[in-house]
Amino acid sequence: MNPSIPTPTTERFPVQIIGAGPGDPDLITVRGQNLLAQADTVFYTGSLVPTQMLQHCRPTADCIDTRSHTLETWLPMLRERVERGQRVVRLQDGDPCLYGALHELTAFLLKHEMAFEIVPGVSAFQLAAARLQVELTVPKLVQSIILTRVQGRTDVPGDEDLASLAAHRASLCLYLSARHAPDAQDKLLAHYPPDTPVALCYRLGWPDEQIHLRRLDGMAATTRETGFDRTVLYVISPALEARAEARSQLYSPSHSHLFRPSSPKS
Ligand SMILES: C[S@@+](CC[C@H](N)C(=O)[O-])C[C@H]1O[C@@H](n2cnc3c(N)ncnc32)[C@H](O)[C@@H]1O
Repeated sequence: MNPSIPTPTTERFPVQIIGAGPGDPDLITVRGQNLLAQADTVFYTGSLVPTQMLQHCRPTADCIDTRSHTLETWLPMLRERVERGQRVVRLQDGDPCLYGALHELTAFLLKHEMAFEIVPGVSAFQLAAARLQVELTVPKLVQSIILTRVQGRTDVPGDEDLASLAAHRASLCLYLSARHAPDAQDKLLAHYPPDTPVALCYRLGWPDEQIHLRRLDGMAATTRETGFDRTVLYVISPALEARAEARSQLYSPSHSHLFRPSSPKS
């Protein structure tokens, strides 16, 4: 435990990095909502955080969408506002510690000696499990969860190649990988049986949410058929077997959705 890390209080943390959760505006934590309601400036990524989330802000709060910015353009704005004595929030989708460029942000804050607090959020994999109504750690079946992604524009260290992670046959939650579904499927099939259930979860918590439950050997084809190429989380897990068996009709192409019986996309 590092004794130099101060205890969270609003006064001592001019910058709050808050996990907004995956979509539903009420899936933010109570702490996150309270801090959002006190903010003078909120930096958020409009493509990932629904604008309804900003309903928690004061009408006078300056809400800045960073989707068309680079770190080089919005971080100086953040610093300038902190120096003016403002309470500043960085609102991140899901949980800030997962694939959220948090490392770059905290490095900047530490370099410029701006105190900050991180408020956790519900990650996409947690809402997926909730929607699927499953435990991802079923005793005697699977006791580990792997959160990972395939190699895209961001390098994945060689030791974490998907094929080697697949050897564990854990509950595997695959982020940021919809554009590489055929490659991901091939690598997963190196170790998971072809009939391992996969949940393709699209925009969980958003009004157009869809969940498709399939076999692993149909993962890439389902991705292609839906046309989804972003905001997709795949959950590959033997823990979904009970769910798949109970609803075996879900393997039928005529039953694309677990929770939404009809959709213009299917
Ligand atoms: C930049 S990462 C951010 C992850 C986020 N920090 C979290 O904890 O969920 C974005 C990826 O997370 C997953 N994701 C985030 N929100 C999602 C949602 N509402 N539904 C499905 N997948 C989501 C997708 O794999 C998406 O490509």
